[in-house]
Amino acid sequence: MNQLRWGIIGPGRIAPRIVRALSGSSRGALVAVASRDLERARAFAANFGIGQAYGSYDELLKSPEVDVVYVSLPNHLHAEWTVRALDAGKHVLCEKPLALTVEEVDMIIEAAHRAGRIAVEGFTYLHHPQTIRAFELARDGALGTLEFVRGTFSFMLTYPNDPRTDPEMGGGSLWDVGCYPVSFARNLAGAEPEEVRAFARFDDRGVDRTFIGQLLFPNGLLAQFDCGFAAPDREEVEIVGSDAALVLGAPFLPAPDGPPPSVTMWRGRSSTPVEVSSLDQYQAEVEDLMSAIVEGTAPGLTLESSRANVATLVALDHDARARRHDAPSA
Ligand SMILES: NC(=O)c1ccc[n+]([C@@H]2O[C@H](COP(=O)([O-])OP(=O)(O)OC[C@H]3O[C@@H](n4cnc5c(N)ncnc54)[C@H](OP(=O)(O)O)[C@@H]3O)[C@@H](O)[C@H]2O)c1
Repeated sequence: MNQLRWGIIGPGRIAPRIVRALSGSSRGALVAVASRDLERARAFAANFGIGQAYGSYDELLKSPEVDVVYVSLPNHLHAEWTVRALDAGKHVLCEKPLALTVEEVDMIIEAAHRAGRIAVEGFTYLHHPQTIRAFELARDGALGTLEFVRGTFSFMLTYPNDPRTDPEMGGGSLWDVGCYPVSFARNLAGAEPEEVRAFARFDDRGVDRTFIGQLLFPNGLLAQFDCGFAAPDREEVEIVGSDAALVLGAPFLPAPDGPPPSVTMWRGRSSTPVEVSSLDQYQAEVEDLMSAIVEGTAPGLTLESSRANVATLVALDHDARARRHDAPSA
């Protein structure tokens, strides 16, 4: 079988993880990288042994030698470059969050239909065996009746001039890390929230640095999460049912990029570890997309689900801003 040929646009901090993922794949190969700056593209290509370097994203999209594009740009550029890549006839893996508005996701959905190509959002954690096992246990009744889910994702953001602190670039901890517990809760519920509530601390540019949200699902499941840029590294999910609680200690970015996966079942005061395997979830993510392209399998994450996630994030953001008289509008 011919390998699917991948190109990266935006060789920044996260892109080397997709280099790693593809280096372990038999059906995909990384053949090109594009930067706004040709020298940066060349340096990245030399560092990772990539054949072709381009000094603009458009040049990469024009190349007939690229089948799949990985969009690893700051948030405000995701929708634009995903649509452009689809229009150029490429399949797309775009980093989370797929877009910053529902209208942008709709443009992506239309472009994917128009081009007959697949676009997926890069929520790697959905492909990890610990996530799949946690959803199975919760849905199969191992925890009893589900009451609520609680999620946490924070870290101290110290990089100077980081796009994540820029309100014009889709900055804010909700979009950067809060999107994970929101996605987790929606996927666990298997439904979309009918109500959301949120509170946030904004910095002086109007970007949320600490965010707390609550969601009510139509089946009664409650969800609560916090996220932030102003607290130490914290990552956890707890799913609470009438009989037991399941705690995931590294639910979003486990090994090889964080602590090993850890799933613990709590019944009363006793805890039992739940066996889960470890893998590179970025590799699972690229393989999932390549199966969809080559074999026609359903991707692990649909554009409709990504649309609903973006809609929920927008609603949470608006609610938090509406509660603050001094919060600049989004
Ligand atoms: N899935 C995950 O685990 C994970 C983890 C971290 C981040 N992410 C997501 O991945 C995306 C990229 O994150 P990152 O940390 O890699 O971002 P980054 O390093 O800040 O930026 C990525 C690249 O975007 C390009 N770029 C284009 N326009 C830019 C602009 N106006 N300002 C700054 N850079 C610009 C730059 O490449 P050139 O200038 O060379 O073209 C830059 O290297 C984000 O959406 C983030 O949410 C995902």
